[in-house]
Amino acid sequence: MASQLGDWIASAPSTLQKNLTILSPDQIEVAKMLLDIGQTHVFEHWPEPGIDDDEKKAFLDQVTRLNTSYPGGLVSYVQNARRLLSDSKAGKNPFDGFTPSVPSGEILTFGDDNFLMMEEAGIREARNAAFVLVAGGLGERLGYNGIKLALPSESTTGTCFLQRYIESILALQEASRRLVQGQSATQIPLVIMTSDDTHERTLKLLESNSYFGMIPSQVKLLKQEKVACLDDNDARLAVDPHNKYRIQTKPHGHGDVHSLLYSSGLLSVWHDAGLKWVLFFQDTNGLLFKAIPASLGVSSTKQYHVNSLAVPRKAKEAIGGITKLTHTDGRTMVINVEYNQLDPLLRATGSPDGDVNCETGYSPFPGNINQLILELDSYIEELKKTQGAIPEFVNPKYKDSSKTSFKSSTRLECMMQDYPKTLPPSARVGFTVMDTWLAYAPVKNNPEDAAKVPKGNPYHSATSGEMAIYRANSLILRKAGVHIAEPVLQVFNGQEVQVWPRITWKPEWGLTFKDVKHKVGDCCSISQRSTLVINGQNVVLNDLNLDGALVVSSGDQAEVKLEGPVQNKGWILEPVDYKDTSIPEEVRIRGFRISKVEQLEKNYTEPGKFNIKS
Ligand code: UTP
Repeated sequence: MASQLGDWIASAPSTLQKNLTILSPDQIEVAKMLLDIGQTHVFEHWPEPGIDDDEKKAFLDQVTRLNTSYPGGLVSYVQNARRLLSDSKAGKNPFDGFTPSVPSGEILTFGDDNFLMMEEAGIREARNAAFVLVAGGLGERLGYNGIKLALPSESTTGTCFLQRYIESILALQEASRRLVQGQSATQIPLVIMTSDDTHERTLKLLESNSYFGMIPSQVKLLKQEKVACLDDNDARLAVDPHNKYRIQTKPHGHGDVHSLLYSSGLLSVWHDAGLKWVLFFQDTNGLLFKAIPASLGVSSTKQYHVNSLAVPRKAKEAIGGITKLTHTDGRTMVINVEYNQLDPLLRATGSPDGDVNCETGYSPFPGNINQLILELDSYIEELKKTQGAIPEFVNPKYKDSSKTSFKSSTRLECMMQDYPKTLPPSARVGFTVMDTWLAYAPVKNNPEDAAKVPKGNPYHSATSGEMAIYRANSLILRKAGVHIAEPVLQVFNGQEVQVWPRITWKPEWGLTFKDVKHKVGDCCSISQRSTLVINGQNVVLNDLNLDGALVVSSGDQAEVKLEGPVQNKGWILEPVDYKDTSIPEEVRIRGFRISKVEQLEKNYTEPGKFNIKS
């Protein structure tokens, strides 16, 4: 046997040699590859043939999957890991030789002429866009038992994040079709990247809700695989502590989205269908689609190959900064630099004060919110070169300063926003800055951690994410001319938040600021304790004085005027205790429930003109 298999077998551990008879030729090849890359230890505990044979085969099947799902296979994975682990041990700075400077980009002011122009350009382009939602993350910081996409973005209507996203894309699709008259109807594709942790539940959420109105073929799920964990600086694969016939695995990060899209073949399908843009976004930002039309407009107007959505950022604030880096050898790139790297890098390269606020009161380096718009053709060209592999990093937690052993196994990771790192200098990489209140309110932190966030920093909790939606809608209506009462401060789950009137609308009602302005007449007012829910497209606010709760639903053929005073006891926010496990998790993680005491509820399903007064 040994002579048929070659010399390698002589140096294989005897535990493997004895088991060769139970393995297929393919499995033997995989075993050989593991030995070649210095992973003898994974066979050392193998018992005699006849014991746990199925487990041994399952182990090699798992290794085969790990091998095929990583560009270049496990050989490359281990090579990359050794290099990165050695750099990490040596304390090598990944930005050595680079000098940071402020890149150029577009800073938008909500509601001004330029903003409206960009929104219109974005709506025009939306029919040429595809959306990619990265939703494979574990959500450990939030600690929610369900998937984050199923979490209500706000509890007035209970609309979950996925529904909000899909309805926004459908509204964009319809608005774009209407604007570019004479064009046939398009279906904007949506890809959702899932992982073993989220795949089944994401599919179930879609299927049990009829894809929230999308045609099922419009939505594609791509599942990312995890990567092998590593036990030491020599990149020894970590054996799973719960099953000695498995390699321990962990998520590789959202950067996987690029290689998955490349290998799926979808990019060429989109190219052939005439699409121009790919928009990447994350699982829990209830505000994002308020920023999408104008940002897409910026991409198209400026012909950006890469456009990173950003928000104003205070110097040293704990959010990555979009930065231009110029190397001593002439290389340049525009990428996200984490806040804890940006300040020391500036100090080390001729800016002794580091990251400081400029005359605007903010750092000149805008805050990255990790929503990217890529131009499809240049994206395809780049991926042909890289196959979607994104520069990785490793972040081992060392036991001590000798940096020889880890507290727990580590793995390589990659981030979606590092895509521009390999782009040629000719690439047009820019950013679009928008107000935080309009664009960014993710739900990442559990209540206990959120309550510990230093004052002035964002909580990024379910509580703040929901309140941000009411604040944004209130501020948009205020800008459109509605008198909106000032918010009050309240504490939920230990977090002090501004509570604005609970105003929500379906994306089809107010996709752009222009839409909203057209639907708002003079002399409207909404008190702080009010709730307004608009579920319908042709609903106009005209002389509305709301002090209570008003819920209006209407079909596409109905035109509805909201007029006159509406007063009732309304809907009240009742604090609940996070620790009270008799309360559903999605309620208690926000620290309040909505008690629907009294409301005016109107439904207009028939075509015609209506007025809520009549
Ligand atoms: P987060 O930074 O929120 O990470 O990811 P997370 O893994 O979901 O949560 P924590 O860190 O465990 O608390 C940002 C986005 O990237 C996706 C997430 O689903 C989220 O939309 N993501 C993250 C992936 O798709 N895959 C990954 O491997 C990691």
